[in-house]
Amino acid sequence: MMIYDLEEIETLGIFDGINEIIATTENEKGVFNAAPLGLIKKGKALSVRLFAGSHTYDNIMAGGKFVANVSHDPMLFVETALNDIPEDRFVIRDGELTLQDAEAWALFKCEPKSLDIALPEVEFVKGEVLNREFRAVNRGINLVVEAAVAATRYVALKSDLYLEEIFKIRRIVGRCGGPKEIEAMNRLEELIEQSE
Ligand SMILES: Cc1cc2nc3c(=O)[nH]c(=O)nc-3n(C[C@H](O)[C@H](O)[C@H](O)COP(=O)(O)O)c2cc1C
Repeated sequence: MMIYDLEEIETLGIFDGINEIIATTENEKGVFNAAPLGLIKKGKALSVRLFAGSHTYDNIMAGGKFVANVSHDPMLFVETALNDIPEDRFVIRDGELTLQDAEAWALFKCEPKSLDIALPEVEFVKGEVLNREFRAVNRGINLVVEAAVAATRYVALKSDLYLEEIFKIRRIVGRCGGPKEIEAMNRLEELIEQSE
């Protein structure tokens, strides 16, 4: 069932605070892109903080829209943060570019020009819940997401502080995560090495 009303956005898994979602966008040549993005919700106000230089930034600048895909797949965060995912992981739903494995997706519009301001507001258009699975809080998955943030910063800034953070996280993921989290953490380290 499609949702169009901002009042119902929590149904899609989007709550106050920063929602770490995977943004799917398309460039002018029709090339698909996916990358983690923090979608900030404060009551009825929704915004993003986009750093210039990413494909996501360029695509939103050109197209004025993106889809927020809600996911708890640690490998998806790692692969989309540091690498590309194959085209067959994308699927068009209701005319919009989404991820095959999304638990929910939501389309947002924004004024391309507004991207130059610090926290451009975005407008909810529509969305859909695909998989209403729920789970207990797991430190492992949350820490893989944290490690993916540190990894994108390390790749950009090359400060060893981020590597130390990743090593610290690795130990806790080994203890608290399941096989999926451990596999994602191994892949994250592999992709960091490849970026050297
Ligand atoms: C959990 C997480 C959240 C992120 N949030 C943002 C964000 O809010 N804004 C941003 O510009 N980059 C963010 N990033 C970094 C981008 O995902 C990263 O730079 C990515 O490589 C951009 O890929 P692209 O060039 O394919 O768009 C985030 C990364 C992670 C792992």
